[in-house]
Amino acid sequence: MARTPRVIETIAGLRKAVGTYRKGGAKIALVPTMGALHDGHMSLVEAAKKKAARVIVSIFVNPQQFAPTEDFSTYPRTMDDDLARLKRLEVDAVWAPDKTEMYPDGFSTRIAPGGPAYAGLEDAFRPHFFGGVATVVSKLLLQTAPDFAFFGEKDYQQLKVVTRMAADLDIPVQIVGVPTVREEDGLAMSSRNVYLAPGERRTAPLLHRTLLDCADKIKKGQPLNRVMADGGQALTAAGFVLDYLEARNADSLEPVTNPGQGPLRLLVAARLGTTRLIDNIAV
Ligand code: PAF
Repeated sequence: MARTPRVIETIAGLRKAVGTYRKGGAKIALVPTMGALHDGHMSLVEAAKKKAARVIVSIFVNPQQFAPTEDFSTYPRTMDDDLARLKRLEVDAVWAPDKTEMYPDGFSTRIAPGGPAYAGLEDAFRPHFFGGVATVVSKLLLQTAPDFAFFGEKDYQQLKVVTRMAADLDIPVQIVGVPTVREEDGLAMSSRNVYLAPGERRTAPLLHRTLLDCADKIKKGQPLNRVMADGGQALTAAGFVLDYLEARNADSLEPVTNPGQGPLRLLVAARLGTTRLIDNIAV
């Protein structure tokens, strides 16, 4: 019978568990999450299990990556369901510190990521975000000392930022990106999809369909600027408030003006009502 994963709430307890795993010679994988787990997270865990004998999932809603106007206080918290899901996948441990364990009184350090964190896209709309992510992810990596850490491609710019940061800080971990998991209608799975009202939920898959349509037109040789502008218009006409729809170099995230500057990645962020959705695909 599957074992409920051990829930660890203190750094001392975590160090002890990691020490035991290491003594047994096991490779360790970390899957960082903010909880409210869905099948996208499960695919990260499954990928982790293929690489490492011990899998730790962290669940921590990180206040440092939310602006005061954002949804920190209402972000879905579903610990019991999360543990039930993780039990089915036989995860070894859940690292679930509270806010004061992660950021004790007097905590005053913040990692300032560069490179892909200043590419525009997300940081143009959420300037506080990548500093908060880099700070908590560096702490999570130092706390769990994993061989591998798994991040979804859905947050493509985040994946690039974390990869750069781990390399720049000489953190001995392999960052692994895992493809986006989608609902049957193409909507990328996200913990925030629960915010969508029924009408918005019906409209939401257009985000992915628009990306596919743009990629198709680019592959057929249509002019990039025109394709992206038309895609943006289609989203606006359907009721989205567009933050960006852009073609970027998939490796550097530099803007591109023609497909020869590829490999290309198309990235989009748009709001439906109060819900902000992001998505991306390779061309
Ligand atoms: O992608 C997320 O869920 C978060 O940004 C992360 C990586 C767990 C850091 O809080």
